[in-house]
Amino acid sequence: MQTIVLATQKGGSGKSTLAIGLALAAIQAGHTVRLIETDSQGTLSNWQSRRPYAEPIVEPVYAAGDVEQRLQSLDRDGVTLTIIDTAGGVSAATTSAIRYADLCLIPARPSIADIEATASTLSVARAWNTPFAYILNQTPIRGQRLAYAANALGDDMEGIVAMPFIVMRNDHQDALSAGLAVNEYAPGGKSAEEINALWQWVDARLGNAPALSATDEPFIVEFVESPAVLPDMAALDPENDSAVFLREPARN
Ligand SMILES: Nc1ncnc2c1ncn2[C@@H]1O[C@H](COP(=O)(O)OP(=O)(O)OP(=O)(O)O)[C@@H](O)[C@H]1O
Ligand SMILES: [Mg+2]
Repeated sequence: MQTIVLATQKGGSGKSTLAIGLALAAIQAGHTVRLIETDSQGTLSNWQSRRPYAEPIVEPVYAAGDVEQRLQSLDRDGVTLTIIDTAGGVSAATTSAIRYADLCLIPARPSIADIEATASTLSVARAWNTPFAYILNQTPIRGQRLAYAANALGDDMEGIVAMPFIVMRNDHQDALSAGLAVNEYAPGGKSAEEINALWQWVDARLGNAPALSATDEPFIVEFVESPAVLPDMAALDPENDSAVFLREPARN
């Protein structure tokens, strides 16, 4: 079994929404998926209670000390992928989830406040040697027209910023209120397409599937080295120890 955790200090960045979307994409790809919720806010449990289907099961696990054992027993039960949705802020349960995960996904809206707020999650992931990647969520739609900034990102960034970015669209909110994932709610829509592609990226990052090539999907925002703007985020690029900052490209 492999385990993914969605974590970041910032509330409302999309942890629960992305956990649901990735869960359904993984189920559609043949996984047996369990959702664990360490957030007593209960977004996933509430979603499941509105849901017309039993799967995926959502399981609350609030005590940090229970996370490891629960993952072990899910593994024994034949679950192939567990996705853990954590609360905003910093807590022992989140730390424990990051510790035992195979991959820590850190959602951030493309704002400096969200990106800065990822620093504490990043340091926990590093402390436990858990691989991590950022997901840019709720991005402006016009970003999709921009060219893939592979040169600016550099090779080292390829595994650190998940692709594609997830555009802000009403489908995500409508799906949540219907008890569905966006890839069930509007399976032919752009949001579903992005979430399914994100799952493929995550699956590849977990070492299970070939990554999409950069030319399959045109992306997006230009990354500009800016350690002066984000000194704490130097950790974003561990190889170069330099910070990156998302910036809208100049429009003519
Ligand atoms: N790409 C998106 N487009 C539009 N709305 C989105 C998108 N992603 C998330 N949302 C909406 O933003 C709100 C916050 O998302 P969500 O609850 O997933 O964030 P969270 O990080 O889990 O928040 P919390 O820290 O409170 O648990 C929800 O109403 C959700 O439907
Ligand atoms: Mg949440």
